[in-house]
Order: sequence, then structure tokens, then C-alpha cells
Amino acid sequence: MQIMEQDVNKDTLPFWIADMDFSCPPAMLAAIKDRADRLIMGYSMADGEYHEAICNWMERRFSWNINSEDIFISSGVVPAIKDLILTLTNQGDGVIIQRPVYYPFSAIINLTRRTLVNNALVNSDGRYSIDFQDLEQKAKDPVNTMMLLCSPHNPVGRVWTDEELQRIGNICLENGVILVSDEIHFDLLRTGANHTPVARLFPGQNSIITCTAPTKTFNAAGLQISNIIIKNKAFQKKWKQHLGPELPSPLALAATKAAYNEGEEWLEQLLVYLDDNLAFMDRYLKNKLPEVQFVIPQGTYLAWLDFSTYGYNDRELGRILIKEANVLLEGGTMFGPEGSGFQRINIACPKTVLEQGLKRIVAALHR
Ligand SMILES: Cc1ncc(COP(=O)(O)O)c(C=O)c1O
Repeated sequence: MQIMEQDVNKDTLPFWIADMDFSCPPAMLAAIKDRADRLIMGYSMADGEYHEAICNWMERRFSWNINSEDIFISSGVVPAIKDLILTLTNQGDGVIIQRPVYYPFSAIINLTRRTLVNNALVNSDGRYSIDFQDLEQKAKDPVNTMMLLCSPHNPVGRVWTDEELQRIGNICLENGVILVSDEIHFDLLRTGANHTPVARLFPGQNSIITCTAPTKTFNAAGLQISNIIIKNKAFQKKWKQHLGPELPSPLALAATKAAYNEGEEWLEQLLVYLDDNLAFMDRYLKNKLPEVQFVIPQGTYLAWLDFSTYGYNDRELGRILIKEANVLLEGGTMFGPEGSGFQRINIACPKTVLEQGLKRIVAALHR
């Protein structure tokens, strides 16, 4: 935080970037230590056991049957999205996104000189939905060749229903739009919520690509590994030509295998804790800051708080939070102009820390 942000000090409470304050599953850490004990850190490749661990996870958690040959390892979902755009679209092509959305989507589209096409989400009292008519119109334009779906959605927290996913998939497939579904938050669901990988709904189709990773689920972003599921043989060929052989970190390979094979109980406990933190924040805000609008997200550990009734502009709100409350959140406009008036807060921390942060926010706003 101190490297990235100027306005922080040693007492600033971090609720910003999407990682957690919790230690990784013990089995994952043990696997890293075991691997280190083998003393050599040479070039490494994924073996059959690695692929099996991933296929089993997808089957167990999402009833999704995938083939080992369709798994491609990348150093992250963000680099993978960049590589997919570079290999499967041309300069000037339009790429559809749904703002407010995870900001690297826009950054990558701009960086790769594609055209950002926004199918803005519709906000009705904090509940977000998709403007399908607008999506269809944009998908019909032959210049728009790819859509980046965020599922579950960061920052609005929606877990898309099967019906919504079916409609998105149909619109893309009928119009020759490649659907890249970023499902990195797929394990982080509220009790009772179900995530469906959109590709599972279209078993006979192969122009849907799914970006997955163990890193968000198991708090291991620094290990830099993700698994991209590409079924289309022509896409696979382009990906391989563009990226060459896969040589992931041996520590990341060991950690992924252990997390998927032995981390399920840890995840179940984490989900209960996250549910509880969100319920706590909901009560707290309703009591102490009823002007802030907040709907418990169906997925992710990120909450999207609407401060707009306070009437501050975004810069002023940001200043109050960092300078007066001494908490670091993510300003809503990072996710697009549609995020004006909002702040994203990461609740994956001990409840005591969350409570302290909320107290500081309440005090600063009531000053
Ligand atoms: C929707 C989404 N995609 C991708 C990432 C980052 O992925 P990676 O670290 O694998 O590049 C994040 C991190 O917060 C995210 O929220």
C-alpha cells in the first residue's frame, strides 16, 4: 500500500485491493514448503495431477466437465485477457464490457488499441441488471468481435443467473462475438448462491473462453497463476503460437494442486466468515450511516457502497476517507464514470478491523 499510494501512513486501514487478510490454506503452504525442500527451482511444467486437480474442482464445485487439453496456464487472468485480445481480435475491433467493471478491462482494451464498447449495467436501487437490448445492438455491429464478461461481477457483486448467462451467451454466439468470461471470483459466493460457468450452458459451442484461477479463492495472488479454459482448437493454436511453451512457477503449480485437492474445508470456513462480515456491515451501516446505500453482494468479498446522497463530489469523498477517516477504499470512478458517488470496500479482513474502519468512516462523515 505504501508503495502504491501517497496519502497513506502506518495507521491507514487497507480495504482496497482485492486480496484478503487471511492466511492461505495450511495444505497449500505445506505443499510450497515441500516443493522448496526439493532444492531446485528449474523450469517447470504442469503434469497430469495438476490438470486432474483442476478438472475435479470444476466438476465438484460447478458440475462442469472440462478436458485437460483445454486448460492453458497463464501468469494471471489480466495477462490472459490481454493475450486473448491480442491473439483473437484485430486492432480497431470493438470489445464489449459492462461498466462499472474491474478497471483493467478498460485499460487493456485501450492499451491494445481496441475500441472500448460499453454495455453499461443498469442500477435500480443498488440492484444491478443487464440492458440486453443494448447488448444485442452492440453485438450485432460486426466491428465488435469480443465481449469481456465479469462473472461474478466486480465491483457490483452480481452472480449472474442461468437465464442471464443464457441470454448473454446466445447474443454473443448468434453474432459471432467471442465471449471471454472472467470467472476469477467464482468460488466466493454467499451461502445459497450458485455460480454457473457460462461455458457449461453451451456444451456444444466453443467460442466461449473461461478465465479461472485459484489465486482469488485461496488468497494467493502473488503466486501469479491462472487457468484459462479454451475449447476451440483454432483459438488454442493461436494462443500457443503467441505464447510458446507454458513454464509456470514450480511453487505456484504445487500450491494450486494442494489448494484444489485439500483446500475445500478452508474455503467453506472462509465463506461463512465473509457472509458474517457482510451481514455485520449491513447492520452497522443501516444503524449508523443509513444514507449509504448498500446491497449485500451475491458473490466476491467486495462491497459497492453508494455515498451519493451525501452530495460530495468524488474527489472530496476520496479526500475525506483517506485524510479524515484514514481508510483506503477504491474510488468508484476507477471502475468507470458509472461508479461516480460509489466506493468499493474489501471486507475480507478480521471483523474487528472492519468495525474499526466503519467507525472511522462514520466519524469522518458526521464530523
Ligand atoms: C474480475 C477480476 N479479474 C482478474 C483479477 C486479477 O487477476 P490476476 O491477478 O490473475 O491477473 C481480479 C483481481 O481483483 C479481478 O477482480
